[in-house]
Amino acid sequence: METNFFEPTLPPTNVVGKPMDRVDGRAKVMGTARYSAEYPVNGLVHGVLKTSDIAKGKITSIDTTAAAKEPGVISIFTYQNIPKPAKVPSALKEEKKWQAAQSYLPMQDAEIHYAGEPVAVVVADTLERATQAAALIKVSYQVEKPIDSYQDPKADLFDPQKIQNGKTDGRKVRGNPEQAYASAPVKHEATYVHAINHHNPMEPAATTAVWEGSDRLTVYESTQNITMSQGSLANLLGIPRDQVRVVTHHLGGGFGCKGSFWPHTILTVLAARAVNRPLRLVLTRPQMYTSVGHREDQEQTLKIGATQEGKLLSLIHEKKSTTSPWDNYAESNSKVVNMLYACPNFSARYELARANVMTAVWMRAPGEAPGSFALESSMDDLAHQLNIDPLQFRLLNYADKDYSDKGKPWSSKSLKECYTRGAELFGWNKRNSKPGQTRRGNKLVGMGMATATYPVHSAQGTARVRLFADGHAVVQSGATDLGTGTWTVMTQVGADALGLPPEKVRFELGDTRLPTAPGSGGSQAAGTVSSSIMAAAEDLWKKVIDMAVGDKKSPLYKAKPTDVKVELGRMFLKKNPKKGETLVAALSRSGMTDMEGMAMGKYGAGYEEKHFAGAGGAAASPEEPGGKNEKGEEEKPSGHSMHSFGAHFCEVEVDPDLGTIRVTRWVGVHGVGQVLNLKTATSQLYGGAIFGIGSALMEETFRDPNYARYTNHNLAEYHIPVNADIPDMQIEFVPEKDPYINALGVKGIGEIGIVGVAAAVANAVYNATGKRMRSLPITPDKML
Ligand code: MOS
Repeated sequence: METNFFEPTLPPTNVVGKPMDRVDGRAKVMGTARYSAEYPVNGLVHGVLKTSDIAKGKITSIDTTAAAKEPGVISIFTYQNIPKPAKVPSALKEEKKWQAAQSYLPMQDAEIHYAGEPVAVVVADTLERATQAAALIKVSYQVEKPIDSYQDPKADLFDPQKIQNGKTDGRKVRGNPEQAYASAPVKHEATYVHAINHHNPMEPAATTAVWEGSDRLTVYESTQNITMSQGSLANLLGIPRDQVRVVTHHLGGGFGCKGSFWPHTILTVLAARAVNRPLRLVLTRPQMYTSVGHREDQEQTLKIGATQEGKLLSLIHEKKSTTSPWDNYAESNSKVVNMLYACPNFSARYELARANVMTAVWMRAPGEAPGSFALESSMDDLAHQLNIDPLQFRLLNYADKDYSDKGKPWSSKSLKECYTRGAELFGWNKRNSKPGQTRRGNKLVGMGMATATYPVHSAQGTARVRLFADGHAVVQSGATDLGTGTWTVMTQVGADALGLPPEKVRFELGDTRLPTAPGSGGSQAAGTVSSSIMAAAEDLWKKVIDMAVGDKKSPLYKAKPTDVKVELGRMFLKKNPKKGETLVAALSRSGMTDMEGMAMGKYGAGYEEKHFAGAGGAAASPEEPGGKNEKGEEEKPSGHSMHSFGAHFCEVEVDPDLGTIRVTRWVGVHGVGQVLNLKTATSQLYGGAIFGIGSALMEETFRDPNYARYTNHNLAEYHIPVNADIPDMQIEFVPEKDPYINALGVKGIGEIGIVGVAAAVANAVYNATGKRMRSLPITPDKML
């Protein structure tokens, strides 16, 4: 029966979803893939940072005499002679034109605020000569005692009102949490500690700055967000945005630290203009610990009130953490605590303390990763306390809508399917609910689980699609590929949008000369760029349809354009799908060599508003759903809450004598909408779980409390998992269709893989040993 009842649809797929090999794989394996420090540039010179040994104080003198006499040295910049930017970040922050994390720019005066702060930039003809000269610079300081963290007895905790990360308020209250907690029959309170973590991408941060004259700049930059880097540089330099070109073709990871703009980039750009030579600066590994942010040291206290039957009544979340002297940054842990389960009362509160550290920054599911450690550990405790299976306990409190956001319906949620499938794959029913009972040889064995979730962060971007009459295409968008597969999946999207085999589609990214895209961060890139490509393709379809309906030789001759639909590159009559032809067939008859489409695509709430506004609203194309409901009322955007969900299952073996923990089995099942590429998506979720195991068991940067200096700023002493630490893992996706988030129903998968992982590990450790570990990482010394 024909009905005008609103029925959202997603387009059919052919190449999308397939486990296609990476289009950039060969270049990477052959060594021809160029990273930001590898572009050959004529006349290139090299910069090296000299950084501060002290964390607080004042420079009293800088002696560059010996350094300047070294062969090959071109220039040495200190706060006394480095050219000033047109604007400093703090001024831009006041003008609300500053998007980056840290609003303090070093080398503007003699003051020192953190260890590792740049005090000089040495420029020489080779990297070795610049390094040697930098070592000869003598800096004298008037030293003050620094504050090391919120735990420092001298630190003042304050209420920041608003925290600087996304849109979360420092305080949030829903219902009457204190009263509900006070009267709850079952109570649980615990404090969780999270170590400082550093991102440690394989490729360190690198900038190659090439000026043409004094107002045209090209920067080869290791950034997750070329658009932001371009904007930051244009604002700092006071030159028009289009005169700053940022190029990032390949990235060796980033994990968030390359998602912001940092001081070393502008210092390099200013020095390059002053020496009038192309200049390259690569951070050393130790400098990576003091130049591009970190995950802040923090503790969370979570109070949960529940009924005897195990229904949550109240959640009270408080967090204390360390921030810099200038910025009120905290990752917003409370969001996940607020939305994950059905609970009528909630409150969040953040406290910050200023210390002599640089501003922290988002890292690998900022907020959700540590927040879920607290929530999912406490949930496990409560389940044990109430003698309910932890998975059953979660089902008992399953959120059938988003309680944290006015009870909005979910755009899609397959969490029950994830739980069921995960439990089955893992053999959850074999778990002994009594801790400390299961042995394998001399090891204690335990099983734990936790829920994963990550929000859809709304974003928008543009793309261009250029279809050639000979049946190939170029698809462009200024996205970046962290190494996770953007390049490959967008080739697949372009192929399906035009009905071409993927080898006939070249996707181009990583250049601000291409249409503007958001960064690869906040799990936004896949959802936004795929939607942009579909929008650009639709723009092209319309042009080709217009041409076909006026072409006597077309099967669509004289058809009304609104009666024509396009699927997988073929135009046909909606009422008679046999009548039609491919886009390429129509184009090749036309005598034109190629045709272009360009448009903006949206991800998240903006997409829903645009596409599901009532039929009275201007739907951009006849394909787009929207219309009137059964009662004849206009459909409105339904105001969905948009999140991915998943479930982790973990088995550990604990050596009771040594306190060592080994993850022996792992199952992760996720519902993430349309998977773009089964192979790269699976790899990304392996990576999420592996990095979660890293933060659970290994990752920790130590700041000396007396000197506020990192003591293990290298990959020998900052431990991350290697293959030998990781078992065979099973990752699966449950099928999920979500027409509300974007043109293909794609939810981001950049971050969900890590959320809940630390708790799944800690819960398994509890099941193995009866020891509840609330301080990450769970190292052997804490176990004994
Ligand atoms: Mo991610 S921490 O948003 O790069």
